[in-house]
Amino acid sequence: MNHPLTDVTRTLGGIAYGGDYNPEQWPREVWREDVRLMREAGVNLVTVGVFSWSRIQPRPGTYDWSLLDEVLDLLHAHGIAVDLATATAAPPPWFTRQHPDARPVTASGTRLAHGSRQVFCPSSPAYAEAADALVTALAARYGDHPALVVWHVHNEWGNHNALCYCDTSADAFRSWLRERYKNLDALNDVWGTDFWSQRYGDWEEIDPPRDTTAFRNPGQELDYHRFCSDALLTRHRAETTILRRIAPRVPITTNVMGTLEKKVDGYAFAAECDLVSVDHYLPAADPDGHIDLALNADLARGMARGRPWLLMEHSTSAVNWQPVNVAKQPGEMRRNSLAHLARGADGLMFFQWRQSRVGAEKWHSAMLPHAGTEGRVWKEAKALGAELAALREVTGSRVHGDVAMLFDWHTWWALELQARPSDQTRYLDAVRDWYEALWTLNITCDLVPPDADLTGYRAVVAPSLYLLSDHDADNLSRYVDQGGHLAVGCFSGVVDEYDRVHLGGNPGALREVLGLVADEYLPLRTQDHALLEDGTRVRQWVERVETRGCTPVLRFADTTDGGPAHGGPAVTRHSFGRGTAWYTATRLPVTALREVLRTLCAQAGAHPVVDAPPGLEAVRRTGEEHAYLFLINHTLDTAHVSVTGVGVAGAEITDGRVVVPPGDVVVVREDLTIAPA
Ligand code: GLA
Repeated sequence: MNHPLTDVTRTLGGIAYGGDYNPEQWPREVWREDVRLMREAGVNLVTVGVFSWSRIQPRPGTYDWSLLDEVLDLLHAHGIAVDLATATAAPPPWFTRQHPDARPVTASGTRLAHGSRQVFCPSSPAYAEAADALVTALAARYGDHPALVVWHVHNEWGNHNALCYCDTSADAFRSWLRERYKNLDALNDVWGTDFWSQRYGDWEEIDPPRDTTAFRNPGQELDYHRFCSDALLTRHRAETTILRRIAPRVPITTNVMGTLEKKVDGYAFAAECDLVSVDHYLPAADPDGHIDLALNADLARGMARGRPWLLMEHSTSAVNWQPVNVAKQPGEMRRNSLAHLARGADGLMFFQWRQSRVGAEKWHSAMLPHAGTEGRVWKEAKALGAELAALREVTGSRVHGDVAMLFDWHTWWALELQARPSDQTRYLDAVRDWYEALWTLNITCDLVPPDADLTGYRAVVAPSLYLLSDHDADNLSRYVDQGGHLAVGCFSGVVDEYDRVHLGGNPGALREVLGLVADEYLPLRTQDHALLEDGTRVRQWVERVETRGCTPVLRFADTTDGGPAHGGPAVTRHSFGRGTAWYTATRLPVTALREVLRTLCAQAGAHPVVDAPPGLEAVRRTGEEHAYLFLINHTLDTAHVSVTGVGVAGAEITDGRVVVPPGDVVVVREDLTIAPA
């Protein structure tokens, strides 16, 4: 398989393993210990230079390569490859001093100070010039270095500075709008500026959606999200163009943040990389953070169009940026890592190699903790390195999702603009509910955009896909018409790409395929609920649906407890062309949603990976001659699973059954050359 990541793992001799390495934080003596311990832990790849700009270029026009020269040579001499960052994510103080106007400005007009990272306006010409010069010099210096196997463009584009409201951004926004709409009437039309007397007579009258008296114009705000994401994408392209020109042999990546980052369209950045890499951190407040992990891994695979991808960052234990930074339990890091591996990662990296002694991230865990090699985390990191070496044969194999889940940043932006029917409706909540329902069924899904090619999927699900263009709606209708099984969650298909309501009855873009009209959206107060006829309690959202060909599968109870749509359809099914389309007219709890999806998936032929007890996560990677079944036990009970194959990395199979102890992970190699009995 000829894929840049496969080339990288071939060079490394297996699964990529390592983390961000920030040697500038430490005296030179420590570097020698670093490389020795990296070897000991099985580290074969480190990310260098993410925050090195002020060392590489201590003054304008003056480069000092001594640190990077020495570190890259040292790593290479110890057989450790480098993912070299372009270092543009943290402009040095001299840059800000020289260009105070390049600092980002908030929606309320505050210009942010220097003193952190990503302190730059994405549209700043001064930043572009300085960053491009740095990348050019860096590529010329290290493009041929034998340690270099991947370019790491910037770092987490837009993590801290995506939305800038300064005058430079305003100018760039206007240019972007001119390009998009060509004439002002078209813009006035789709933004609905005749409402509240906002009609623009000159492009110069248009500003970013800064803080104002009441609701901002939603079309303007939605376009501003797009513009901000595009402004960073322009910077990404500028860097990649330089790297490809000077060092074409080296593949390019950037660490996309998946659902951790609302402000940039992850698909757009992933599409511009030779290999896809992502960062994931467990949300500590979520007791089932491993489901969030799985969701993001499946999104990474969706972004990589099914090919293997690289987990660029996760944590060995606690992070330092959540309200309470919960440490990982013994064994949890391994479980997390192998869960990413199961879902298609060919590399597992951490932030960071050595825990900082000073600075803003000293309370963030690392592979080598403050306690050094005495620490529990180190011992686990070292053991994981050895285990990954034993699992190297899985590299290059692929996960095939039977189901596509449509996930879209544009819907995320639009659904959470101001003045919606309910501010309780959060996009990620809906996505999580639907994902969790599939996860508990052990049905593998790919998270893909609404314009993805859906033909190979047995079923497609669309949680609260509020924004849907006619083009993407056609994609869904065609899929069903040709025999597909589609399930759509409430408040989907409501507006077009400009946040204009599709007229003629909601959900305008999907009315025909669903065979219904949602006559009214009836959000519930926080303290209220509605009852379904089977006793299920639903919260937050109810729709009064009129059937137009669909069949109600489940109704709201026909009593006052049934809520504002009592007696009406809550779940419907519609035969359309050769396929079937389901709709949920409420936010079903995960348990109820799971039953709907269980039925739909059974009819669609999308099956659980294995028959396994609850809490036992099962995923399969398929290679050319073997498949690898990963079984991950998230419970406190021992699980027994019937399997056909042999254990990898120490797993034992007796009489066709494998035991998965509580908190453990086993991998089973299945021989694809033997026909199933
Ligand atoms: C992000 C950044 C890293 C580090 C981690 C900490 O992912 O890319 O530099 O700050 O957060 O979790």
